[in-house]
Parts: sequence; C-alpha cells; structure tokens
Amino acid sequence: MRRFLIVAVVGSMVGILLLVAASAGHQVAAQEPTQVGTTGTAGERSSSGAFDIEIRRNADRMIEEGRRIFRFDTFGDEAFWGDQLKLHQAIVGAKLGGVGPGLSPKMALSLGLKVDSDAVPPDLAAQLKAGKVDLDDPASTVALLKANAVVGVTAFLNSDGTARSVGVQCAICHSTVDDSFAPGIGHRLDGWPNRDLNVGEIVALAPNLKYYTDLLGVDDAGVRKVLKSWGPGKYDAELDQDGKAVGPKGRSGATLLPAAFGLAGVNLHTYSGWGSVTYWNAYVANTQMHGKGTFFDPRLKEKDRFPLASKAGFADMRNSPDLISPKLAALHFYQLSIPAPTPPAGSFNAQAAQRGRAVFEGQAKCSTCHVPPLYTEPGWSMHKAQEIGIDDFQADRSPDQHYRTTPLRGLFTRQKGGFYNDGRFQTLADVVEHYKDPLKINLNAEQKADLIEFLKSL
Ligand code: HEC
Ligand code: HEC
Repeated sequence: MRRFLIVAVVGSMVGILLLVAASAGHQVAAQEPTQVGTTGTAGERSSSGAFDIEIRRNADRMIEEGRRIFRFDTFGDEAFWGDQLKLHQAIVGAKLGGVGPGLSPKMALSLGLKVDSDAVPPDLAAQLKAGKVDLDDPASTVALLKANAVVGVTAFLNSDGTARSVGVQCAICHSTVDDSFAPGIGHRLDGWPNRDLNVGEIVALAPNLKYYTDLLGVDDAGVRKVLKSWGPGKYDAELDQDGKAVGPKGRSGATLLPAAFGLAGVNLHTYSGWGSVTYWNAYVANTQMHGKGTFFDPRLKEKDRFPLASKAGFADMRNSPDLISPKLAALHFYQLSIPAPTPPAGSFNAQAAQRGRAVFEGQAKCSTCHVPPLYTEPGWSMHKAQEIGIDDFQADRSPDQHYRTTPLRGLFTRQKGGFYNDGRFQTLADVVEHYKDPLKINLNAEQKADLIEFLKSL
C-alpha cells in the first residue's frame, strides 16, 4: 500500500500543489529493523579519531582471524582424531598405507561431508565437471584433502598420498555449501548447520575407539552402536560428560546441529543454555574436538550429574602450549558477525506471513518468549520443560536444567532433521500444533497456516 504525502506550497502569486510519493514500497512481513540506522547527526556518524580508526581496524582483523579459525583451525586436535583414533587411516584406506577400503568421495558426500568449490584447484575442478574424477576411489578424496577443500577436515599428508594424521574444525558441523557446483560441492555457508552430516558414522570409521570404550565403560561394538544411533545432522555434545546415550522413547541422546548465525544479542547458547558463545567455544574445542587448550567449569565437578566429566577431569583442563585460548576472542567476534540468512524469494507467502506475524505476537503468545527481532528473550532466556510441553531429558543434562528459547531467524536453513533440540517435531505445523496445551491457545486452521508462513519468513 502506498502512502501519499501532499505538500502544498503557496507562493506569492501561484499556488503549487506537489504530490510526493513518500512510501518506498510495501512492508514485507520479514522486514524489520535489526540494525541501528545509518542516519544521525554528524557527531554520531563520525569515526575519524585515532581510536575510532583503531576500533574499526580491530573489528576487521577480528573477523578475518575469526573466519580463519572457524574454518581451518584444528587447535591441535589431530593428536586425538589422527594419532589416537587413527581416523586418517580409515580415510585413505589400505592401498594408501591405511586400513580398510578407504573413504571415496561418493561415500564422503553420502556421509554429508561438503566440498568447498573455491578451494578445488582449476584443473581438478575441470576434471570433476567433465566426470573424469573417479568418485569411487579414495585417492580422489585424498586429492581434495590435499587442496584443503573438504569443509572442516584437514588431513596431514605425505607427498606419496599416505597420511600422517587428520584434524577437524568448527566448520565441519557448522558450515555447509550452496551446492552451486554439484550436490555437496559449492561455496561455503558459514554458520548454516550441516544437517546432512553424519558425525556418528564418520567417527565410527575410526579403527581405534579405545578413548570412548574407556570413558563410557562399554565395549567397542557398544560404542559403535551409540555413534550410529545419532543419524544425520546430529551430535551428542554431552555424552562424554554424563554417558547418557539414550533419551526418552529410545531415541538417541544426540541433539540437532544448531544454527551458528544470528547470535549477536543472544545471551545464552545451546539448546539447554550452557553459557555464552565463547563459553561454548572453549567447551567444544577442549572437550569435544579434543584440541589442546584451557577449560574451566567447576559445574562439571558435580559427580552425580556429570560422572564421566569428573572422571576425565573436564572441569579443569590445562595444556601447554595452549592452542585454544588465544583464539577465542576472534572466534567469538566472527560468529557474532554472521547474520541470519534471508529466506529465498518465493519460499513463503508474504501476505500470509504478515497476517501470521499478528498471530505470533497476539493470540498465539509466541512473542512472549521469542521476542522480536532477536526471537529469544533479552535476559535469561531459560524455561522449564513443562512450560514448552516436552520432557526434561536434554535440559536435565545441562547445569541449568532448563531449555533456552531458540532464536528463530533463518529457520529455512534447518528444515531438515526436524525442530526442537532432538528434532522431535518433523514440521513447523507439528511445532505449532504442540503449543496448544502448554500455552493454552486455540488457533483456527487459517491462523495456524498464517503462523507457519510467518515462521518461514524469518
Ligand atoms: C561435531 C559437531 C560439532 C563441532 C565440531 C562443533 N560444534 Fe558447535 N554445536 C554442535 C552441537 C550438536 C551443538 C548443540 C549442543 C547442545 O545444545 O547441547 C552446538 C552448539 C554450538 C553453538 C550454540 C549455538 C546456539 O546458539 O545454540 C555455537 C555458537 C557453536 N556450537 C559453535 C561452535 C564452534 C565455534 C566450534 C569450533 C570451536 C564448534 N561449535 C564445533 C556441534 C558441533
Ligand atoms: C514459554 C516460552 C516459549 C513460548 C511461549 C514459545 N516458545 Fe517456541 N521455543 C521455546 C523454547 C525453550 C524452545 C527450544 C525447545 C527445544 O529446543 O527443545 C523453542 C523452540 C521453538 C522452535 C524450534 C526452533 C528450532 O530451530 O528447533 C520453533 C519453530 C518455535 N519455538 C516456535 C514457536 C511458536 C510458533 C510459538 C507460539 C505458538 C512459540 N514458539 C512459543 C520457548 C517458547
């Protein structure tokens, strides 16, 4: 709808009527101010002082460094994945000095690993396009690893194609690609959860799982069974704290890989609010990726709740040299700079979404917790399981024993694998339907449909 501003200018001799179209366009449901505007007084806009310039340079440098760390830093975790678990041997296969059949590109892609097309050397890219790369040959995977083109995985290779070790990065779980070259091959999309990635199956390729058998106190077959129970798009970041491999109704204890974008302004992170982004980065880099750093969280000393953490000493980890702590600032900064992506044009009905916003903020009560534009609560965004009408299994595994209100922007990137911490709701319709009882709301079919279009527009 256009608004017209009528300005009458009456001169000394003639009256002139100016009709000025003041509206820039219609208001789309998803559009709302998320950034401070660029207008303001000269003083508000200026940034020419020496320290202002230093701040700007620092910000630019932090983003660059943080991106490099997010994508390429293993924090020394190859000592775990390679040296201890010998995962590299399973990747290259017996023909190249490892063990077993090796990991062909076809298998790697089917396990959800992604290839960064910008890192593939032009000659290899041309061969790929022409269908001349043998996608059943692990040697082709080694060629991609040599180019550092496998997202989130770095192999330490010898010149003859044999491997010394392998390490993983944040990007393996928290980036995907846009498939612009081929399915699974394209430009990186940092922060988008890789819901194709089968972390459990990949870890289960490793010849030596002694670390897990010792920690969990089950045999090798038992560990592999647990790993294979996760399925694509999931990982259990608390298993090595509490050993709870099985959740309610026999589901695995794993959670979905969450979005790592749109996090600026959000106070608590993970489905159960373990802490801030930088808290969690230190947690993951030390206790999950098994990098070499420093981590301190006395909450993990609670023996009854975190028996394995107590055993493994996760409450107080010290490594020298510390390969993690010096990277936390830039890593944090980079993640906060990743915006939530905008849903593709045509992926939702804009008019229905606009009506759905009114439902979201009104009768459905959603915005009492999902406060726009963050879509989580500013403050302590934690809730008891019964407030949101689910069991407390996953909440109970965290220090605070609550669930955190998930920020909802960019929902379209995580349609695969379902919604809520363990993906228990297959569709947005299922999510909306389940809120009926805990929120005591009664929406008609049209309101529900509009609400779903609104969620898709976020
Ligand atoms: C093996 C897969 C995996 C790797 C590697 C990994 N993460 Fe995660 N990440 C997860 C899972 C699963 C969760 C959710 C955990 C939970 O809620 O209990 C998570 C949660 C997060 C969150 C919280 C998002 C939110 O607001 O809920 C951030 C931020 C994050 N990870 C960043 C990182 C960074 C940075 C690294 C590298 C240091 C990293 N992750 C490595 C799987 C992974
Ligand atoms: C009492 C607070 C509260 C209210 C009210 C609320 N939510 Fe939530 N919402 C949460 C919490 C907490 C989670 C995280 C649950 C989990 O991950 O298991 C969540 C998760 C979600 C998710 C899943 C996001 C994802 O990526 O998995 C969607 C979608 C959602 N809410 C939509 C809604 C809608 C629509 C309404 C209104 C009908 C609503 N919420 C009302 C607290 C609330």
